[in-house]
Amino acid sequence: MEKNIRMSPLQLTGITQENLAQATVLSQAESWPHRQEDWGMLLELSQGVVALRDAAVVGTTLRTNYGPDVSMMHMIIVGRSERGQGLGRKLMEAAMESSEGRELRLVATQEGLPLYEKMGFQREGEITQCQGNVGTVEPPIAGVSQATAEELDDIIQFDRAFFAADRQALLIWLAQNGRLAITRSEDGRITGYAALRRFGRGQVIGPIMASSLTQAQDLIRFFAAPLAGEFIRIDTDSTSGLVPWLDGIGLTRAGGGVRMRKNAKTEPRSAFGLCSQALG
Ligand SMILES: CC(C)(COP(=O)(O)OP(=O)(O)OC[C@H]1O[C@@H](n2cnc3c(N)ncnc32)[C@H](O)[C@@H]1OP(=O)(O)O)[C@@H](O)C(=O)NCCC(=O)NCCS
Repeated sequence: MEKNIRMSPLQLTGITQENLAQATVLSQAESWPHRQEDWGMLLELSQGVVALRDAAVVGTTLRTNYGPDVSMMHMIIVGRSERGQGLGRKLMEAAMESSEGRELRLVATQEGLPLYEKMGFQREGEITQCQGNVGTVEPPIAGVSQATAEELDDIIQFDRAFFAADRQALLIWLAQNGRLAITRSEDGRITGYAALRRFGRGQVIGPIMASSLTQAQDLIRFFAAPLAGEFIRIDTDSTSGLVPWLDGIGLTRAGGGVRMRKNAKTEPRSAFGLCSQALG
């Protein structure tokens, strides 16, 4: 009772750049590696809701729309002193409000699972987070090249077929702020691609969309070979077959998450590498 009298009311409002310094403190309190720049990237591609108490950020949720059919829900965090009082659910409901019947996807932490299951999300698979200072990796013998600006459209189409949604804005962002590599068959058809960007403690390789395990490994080699000794992170579908190989090059299992969907209406293929647990 006394607690209720002392506490000023919560305000739920649209998240803006001005909230990101405090949002970064909130995610760092969970030991998530996001820098403020990483939140900035997410906000460029997303919309979201922030919970404020006395002008302090005490909760966040973002939603990224991928075309008219699919949204990713992410960065769902409630400050420790505010948990267990319905704020997580309220933030999710507010962020889902304008999703217009889209399929909703997310990657859940163990802590988030009970909330999402109560909200009707279904478990579909597991993600393994692999990271570390990469060892010496041989570059691919042939077949992988840095993507040119003219190849971006091919990558967007290819990604759409694998991911079953339109990630054009994300791929343009990656082309402008990171690097893209591409593989082609002998007759010139695109058979895979991957991206590299700065994130958290080092660099992330992902998405990695490829037609075979060997091709996915070649795409990883292309980026990792010049980065020996540097910190790299890859989030992969646990069934992709990549985990033992990643372990062999120094990227060891550091956690993971549960892939979930609500209102499922598409048929995505599993990914050798996610852009991130947030962005799928
Ligand atoms: C996950 C998280 C956002 C939940 O926030 P919260 O404000 O405590 O959640 P709520 O109080 O709104 O709980 C929502 C529902 O989930 C249930 N729930 C929450 N945690 C639960 C648990 N550990 N076990 C069982 N049920 C749980 C609540 O009972 C509630 O059910 P109801 O709405 O039917 O009453 C919060 O724990 C958090 O920020 N964790 C750290 C960051 C994180 O892991 N986020 C998830 C990323 S995917």
